[in-house]
Amino acid sequence: MCGIVAYIGKKQAFPIVLKGLKRLEYRGYDSAGIAVLNGEALNMFKRSGKVANLEAYAMEHNTEGHAAIGHTRWATHGLPNDVNAHPHFSNDESIAVIHNGIIENYDTLKKKLITYGFTFQSETDTEVLVHLIDHIRKNDNLSIPEAVRRALHHVEGAYAIVVISKDNPNQLVAARKSSPLVVGIGNEGDFFLASDATPIIEYTKRVVYLNDEEIAVVDLNEGLRIFNIGNQEKTPFIQKLEMELEALEKGGYEHFMLKEIHEQPRSIQDCLRGRLNSNEGWVALRGLLDYETKMIQAKRLIIVACGTSWHAALVGEYLIEDLARINVEVEYASEFRYRNPIISENDVVIAISQSGETADTLAALELAKSKGATILGICNVVGSSISRVTDAGCYTHAGPEIGVASTKAFTAQVTVLTLMALSLAHKKGTISESAFHALLTEIEDIPGKVKEVLKSNSIIEKIAAEYAEAPNALYLGRGSSFPVALEGALKLKEISYIHAEGYPAAEMKHGPIALIDENMPVFVIATKGNSYEKVVSNIQEVKARKGKIIAIVTEGDVNVKEMADHVIEIPETHEYLVPLLATIPLQLLSYHIALMRGCNVDQPRNLAKSVTVE
Ligand code: F6R
Repeated sequence: MCGIVAYIGKKQAFPIVLKGLKRLEYRGYDSAGIAVLNGEALNMFKRSGKVANLEAYAMEHNTEGHAAIGHTRWATHGLPNDVNAHPHFSNDESIAVIHNGIIENYDTLKKKLITYGFTFQSETDTEVLVHLIDHIRKNDNLSIPEAVRRALHHVEGAYAIVVISKDNPNQLVAARKSSPLVVGIGNEGDFFLASDATPIIEYTKRVVYLNDEEIAVVDLNEGLRIFNIGNQEKTPFIQKLEMELEALEKGGYEHFMLKEIHEQPRSIQDCLRGRLNSNEGWVALRGLLDYETKMIQAKRLIIVACGTSWHAALVGEYLIEDLARINVEVEYASEFRYRNPIISENDVVIAISQSGETADTLAALELAKSKGATILGICNVVGSSISRVTDAGCYTHAGPEIGVASTKAFTAQVTVLTLMALSLAHKKGTISESAFHALLTEIEDIPGKVKEVLKSNSIIEKIAAEYAEAPNALYLGRGSSFPVALEGALKLKEISYIHAEGYPAAEMKHGPIALIDENMPVFVIATKGNSYEKVVSNIQEVKARKGKIIAIVTEGDVNVKEMADHVIEIPETHEYLVPLLATIPLQLLSYHIALMRGCNVDQPRNLAKSVTVE
């Protein structure tokens, strides 16, 4: 949450930072601001609302300068107005700071700083940082890097910060703890700093991911230096970015979400690449191979995640328990970390996270590690915090997901979990060779089948038009389609603001059925499989109460077609793989409904892509 970006070098800094903020806007879009150093002057531009507001405002001013820091905010402390927008100035306006994270002891620090004579302009927690650094620097006559280092010893909470100062115009100082920060090493002796690599990729592929409690000083004369808050110098570990710039563009689609939905045949294919071969009869998640025995022998696999990733985890639970007969528990990371869970060395804890930065998921992992459990990760963002703290893991390879509502990351997570379940089952001997081979073949066909589902887009758009004004919606599914129902409901509520709930179809009788009348659309996953007949009965129960049925069915189904108001067909596949296909129409339905309601599909209100605060 919140995106930070900074540049120092020979180029004009403002346009680079502004463009970077647009790329990071998915992390927060309540307000935006940039501070630019132009010779003796440190000029500040801040506006509430989107980065576009800041851009329009700044156009009327001189934004020249070779160093700048910028921020796009997801408000935690204080309203999203101009004053609370970052950067924040020191009282003498010689230093400015941007910050992503939460300073938990800000109130204590603030009170102390007020007694030292500092005045506060904003309601943010961040402002204490700039005054604290300023206070320490002046009191002890220190350089900015040293003042930052000492200041951070007083700070509790999470931070990724960048400090710019008039006194050191050739230098930016950055630090992180529990919030991500990447340093880009430019090709012209210039440097970039950002919450993730997306604002950097256009200029350089050489990056350094900062570790917790590390401070980076980028200096036009001295280059990059990294040290920790204990003042030990570190050798920067330079990595090469694999990402391509085109992956960050809309590529002709009206919205990132639509592009990402349509990318799924490719993203699933990329996720499968090199991990299975039906002809040769093998499946392998190489990052986890050394841990498979441990997983098979584990007392339990505990999967921790949030939101959409938690739904993917539930699909994983169905598949791993059924195929590999290993006990799986799925936990909301935010609950797990605070409820004093019983964890031992015999447990394997797996985190699932698109961003790899979700604060609760990271903290849940750290807790599990402290209790001796093996910790594994399934992440999309390469080099993210979760991928670096885990003992081992594998990437989903879905490519950058910019739309705030998760789509292709979900199907990639489910793909990895499906491979994991199969691999464990094969190793453990809980699946017959013929069933194993049949599933491998079927998985290889999934990208092509997803392509088929996407062809229903115009049918889905027409259905969406009928329900765009519905105040409520219910999603039903059974077995591994139950998490698909949860995910369908989440997609609808987060981007269209229609209240929606997902339920196991049979649970409907225990309460939600009271809500059903002629105005209630009920989206049901009613594909062929073990519970088909039971889902058909549930559909009848809805129809008996005049509810509207929109059913996802297997191609050629006639039974449900007769009962439902609308059907969306998906190609026939093995029951285990239905979540990968049935999710797609639900994503498209939400997309079209949100669009028809005039909602901002890519940046829904109050949300941010990367939830780095708890
Ligand atoms: C919903 C959505 C969120 C995320 C959740 C976890 O569309 O995107 O619910 O799934 O915030 O994020 P990650 O997967 O980055 O840990």
